[in-house]
Formats: sequence, structure tokens, C-alpha cells
Amino acid sequence: MVTKVEKPTDDIIEYGAGLILSGEVVAIPTETVYGLAANGYDGNACAKIFKAKGRPMDNPLIIHISNMNMLYNSVENVPPLALRLAEKFWPGPLTMIFKKKDIVPTQTSGGLDTVAVRMPDNPYTLKLISACNVPLAAPSANRSGSPSPTTAQHVYDDMNGRIPLIIDGGECKTGVESTVICFTDNGEKIKILRPGAITLEMLSEFAPTRLDKNVFNKPAENEKVISPGVKYKHYSPRAEIIIIKTDSDDSFSEYVNNNSDSDTCAVIFGCEKDINIPVIVYGECDDAQAHNLFGALRETDDRGYKRAYVRCPHTTGVGTAVYNRLIRAAAFRVIEL
Ligand code: TXA
Ligand code: MG
Repeated sequence: MVTKVEKPTDDIIEYGAGLILSGEVVAIPTETVYGLAANGYDGNACAKIFKAKGRPMDNPLIIHISNMNMLYNSVENVPPLALRLAEKFWPGPLTMIFKKKDIVPTQTSGGLDTVAVRMPDNPYTLKLISACNVPLAAPSANRSGSPSPTTAQHVYDDMNGRIPLIIDGGECKTGVESTVICFTDNGEKIKILRPGAITLEMLSEFAPTRLDKNVFNKPAENEKVISPGVKYKHYSPRAEIIIIKTDSDDSFSEYVNNNSDSDTCAVIFGCEKDINIPVIVYGECDDAQAHNLFGALRETDDRGYKRAYVRCPHTTGVGTAVYNRLIRAAAFRVIEL
């Protein structure tokens, strides 16, 4: 299959909508990462997403909506708290989990009786969803296990020959995937299953909010997890990623200088000095780190490194999301200095 990469003109959006409504898979830009989209109400089309990604069939998809009618059409029991959050954060990087209606096929929900929903903050993708007039199921547009794509080129690197169209909306603003939450205690409390740019601190202004224990921990071998995505090795380049936790620039530099060979690089904030091995900078503040993380992880492979020492981010605010992705990319290898 030939994979076209096209800018989001009105004609291309119409063409993309036609492909989606005929059961095909199209890569779409969002404010978080690129998605691999199909008609969320068409089980066979969604099965093609799993095939293109090489994704286990029990890992459910998020459906992307462009108006609230699509929410009511797809789910039962929207708690008042969810409406307050939708009003504040949609369109935006917040995904909420609800009980699904029958119109959402089991291929979309990974066999669960719930479905995850979000309204993405990207004008082209909102237009595309409206043109299709159905929610679009879309996981991140990487091959399963790889770092998520934040440019059309990343998508092309992973999906060339597997899908007919990539809509190139430029670089993604946020750079890490949406915050995924579910509601507990009769819809009055929030649990964060996957942290993102809508932070614990922001959600706590609306209701008592806590992080699921798997946000920073590896699930036990046979544990039944709420969010199947946390079971799988994730976000990893081929290079071995090792997280180095330290508050001191000097001790970080000293450690990487003393423990590297010619195949090793360091992924740094940018303020560290006297590092004798090649460096990839992923930014000083939380937002920059979120924006650059996946690109930096992909770059370790593009430049052929076998191992990368990555400076540990702050673990509050958006840093929670950065650390959550990084610790999985590192398969939980952390060295504390
Ligand atoms: O920002 C994003 O969320 C991107 C863009 C494309 O919208 N999408 C994305 O999708 O990251 P994906 O499939 O790569 O990650 C969705 C996560 C997975 O960990 C999945 O297990 C979880 O959300 N999830 C989806 N539906 C769920 C459900 N019904 N219950 C629990 N977890 C769910
Ligand atoms: Mg993903």
C-alpha cells in the first residue's frame, strides 16, 4: 500500500473522511501525539488499527469526538463531574472513561464494557471528525511498544506501507498523550490511570483525585489492571534506556562519564556541564520535556546508540506524565545517585 503524507487542506480532509467512512485507517494530528484513526462504530475498521500497530487486541482504543452529542450517543451515565471537566478541559488532553453503549463495538473497547472518550484540541482533526459524523477510534500512531509519534515523519517511519494516508498537521503541541481518568465513588472522585498535561493538581480543584498505583509501578505478573495499556512494555526505542535520578548536575555528569562506552549517549535537561559523551537535550522545564521526550527517545535510535542515560525529570505537574512514560521506556531501570 502506498502511504501518502498530505497537508490538511479542505480537500484532504474530505478525502480522509471518505477513506474513514469506507473502513480505512488514517493517521491524524492531535495536540498530544499523532493518532491512527478509524470509524469508532465500525468493528472491522477498528480491527485494522490493531493490525497496523501490531497491538494486542485486549488493549482498548480512545474514541475522539467533536461535539457532546457524540458523547451521549456512545456512553451511558455521564456523571455531573464529567460534564464540569468537559466544560473546562475539552477540547483538550483529557480522556474520560464511561460505561459504553452497544453502538461502540467490542473491537473498539478491547472487550471491556467501558469506553474512553476525548475531544482533541486540533482544528483539522475536529473538522475531520465532524465530516465523518462519527467518533474516531484512535490510539497513538506508533508501532506497538515504540515511542509515540509527535511529527508526521515519525508516523511515516512506523506506518509506511501500512495505511493509505497521514494528515500532516505539523509538530504536536503537548508531546505526551492525554491524561486518562476514570470516576469512582458514584462518579464523585477521580482516579488518574495515565498522567498527561491535565495534571493531578488541576483535577484536584474539581474533585478528590488520586494516581492509580500503576502510574509509577510495574503491575504484578498476573494482576488484573484497569487500564490494559499499563501491562505492556511501552514507548521504548531499541536503545537500552537507563534513568539516572539525582538533583546534582555534577554527579550526573560524573556518573555518565565513568560508565559509558562509544555506543552510549546522555539525554539531558541542557544545563549539565562537562559531559564527555554525545548528548541529546530534552529541555529544562516540564512542558519542554513533555514536548521533546518522544523525539529524543527516537533520536537515540536514529543516531545508532545502544544505551542512553536519561536524566530523571521532576515528578510533579506535567513531569508526572514525562516520568510515567520514561520509566516504561526504561523497563523500570532506575539508578539513584
Ligand atoms: O493523547 C492521546 O490519548 C492519544 C491521541 C491519539 O488521542 N491516544 C492514545 O491512545 O494515547 P493509546 O491507545 O495509545 O492509549 C490509550 C490508553 C491505553 O493505555 C489504554 O489501555 C487506555 O488508554 N484505555 C483506553 N480505553 C480504556 C478503557 N475503557 N478502560 C481503561 N483504560 C482504557
Ligand atoms: Mg500509545
